[in-house]
Amino acid sequence: MTTATQTVINVVDRDGASRSVEWEPGQTLMETLRDNDFEVLASCGGTASCATCHVFLDKSIVDELGERSEDELELLEESEHYDANRSRLSCQVDAREALDGATVTVAPEED
Ligand code: FES
Repeated sequence: MTTATQTVINVVDRDGASRSVEWEPGQTLMETLRDNDFEVLASCGGTASCATCHVFLDKSIVDELGERSEDELELLEESEHYDANRSRLSCQVDAREALDGATVTVAPEED
């Protein structure tokens, strides 16, 4: 059970292990993942230019979040693990409420 200010997401890491973490207000999804020690490098610091924060979400959530920005889409399409239905850059996702209770899967590392 969550309150209006508390959002909990279930995160699956690259080893397939999952755990629930709390998404604090004011954070992007990338910051939440990084603060909870998931393998999200976020080397560009959240400016949609590195793609090291790539995650997969359910298609229904991706649809609900709406269009990706041009920069985000371009980077994702260059990723070898791009999935048109499920890929997002987590630094570009800040809609906490839309993801309450959702599962977020960290994308595999690029070769
Ligand atoms: S942190 Fe670099 S693209 Fe998201």
